[in-house]
Amino acid sequence: MNAGKQSVLIIEAKGAKIPLVGLGTWDLRGRTCARVVEQALRLGYRHIDTAEMYDNEREVGEGLRASGVKRDDVFVTTKIWPSHFAPPALERAARECLVRLRLSAVDLLLLHWPNPQIPLAETLGALAKVKREGLARHIGVSNFTVALIEQALAATTEPIVCDQVECHPFLDQSKVIAACRRHGMAVVAYSPIARGNARNDAVLKRIGARHGKTAAQTCLRYLVQQNVAVIPRTGKIERLSENAAIFDFALSDEEMTEIAALAHPGGRVVDWAFSGQPNWD
Ligand SMILES: NC(=O)c1ccc[n+]([C@@H]2O[C@H](COP(=O)([O-])OP(=O)(O)OC[C@H]3O[C@@H](n4cnc5c(N)ncnc54)[C@H](OP(=O)(O)O)[C@@H]3O)[C@@H](O)[C@H]2O)c1
Repeated sequence: MNAGKQSVLIIEAKGAKIPLVGLGTWDLRGRTCARVVEQALRLGYRHIDTAEMYDNEREVGEGLRASGVKRDDVFVTTKIWPSHFAPPALERAARECLVRLRLSAVDLLLLHWPNPQIPLAETLGALAKVKREGLARHIGVSNFTVALIEQALAATTEPIVCDQVECHPFLDQSKVIAACRRHGMAVVAYSPIARGNARNDAVLKRIGARHGKTAAQTCLRYLVQQNVAVIPRTGKIERLSENAAIFDFALSDEEMTEIAALAHPGGRVVDWAFSGQPNWD
């Protein structure tokens, strides 16, 4: 299957045009990373998600150039690690990301996790400055709670275009989704197939089979049908097409409700406790 035009459906948020499907790259390294990024772009993906912490920005940049896709046709996100949230460190870190990616600007620069040890207003001031200097076209946050989103919006006049959060059927993120909607921000779902756990879920398999789709596709469809962008990661070329082929079917209201009921306490796959007791270095 060719991801084709379908994968460039976008969410518009405060001037940012974020493709609904992107490629996650956490844990993709070296040649595999460059090859998967290149293939994803050749197949029609137009959104790539990386971070300074992933230690793969060089390879993401290589894949981008090898694909032959024009720079301006790809939405590239990277993220600043919380140990770099003091203003001078943030600006330096952003410049280093661009050197590794070999880009003059990213499309979206995110604060990777909140860092209660550094005043948010200072960090956002630095992020806004980086944007004004042209290093990032848009800025946003990741792993921010509703309360933190409100604090961030109060602390800056620069548009915060998204919150990237863990989001999949096993985790109820309705409050953060509602807050983002209220404030005109996009939600970008990370771990959108629950690190692969969706593939074996009986409900997702049964509903998917009705549409001729896999459990993973059904899971991703559930999110994009709510206008939530998804960034599934795979190291397998053959799964790139599968994960993007989610725009040729629709889930009924009953199916959406049944999938939403899969949420349960303990459904998180990324260790959130990490954000409460940060040890960022
Ligand atoms: N902002 C943050 O704090 C944060 C945190 C976590 C992740 N992220 C971002 O979000 C991206 C995605 O999240 P994630 O990597 O945690 O998890 P994910 O995308 O939910 O799941 C990835 C896992 O699912 C498997 N998989 C992929 N497609 C599949 C398919 N069609 N059928 C069955 N299994 C499939 C992959 O294995 P194979 O490789 O074998 O296909 C891999 O083990 C990351 O890569 C990263 O870019 C951001």
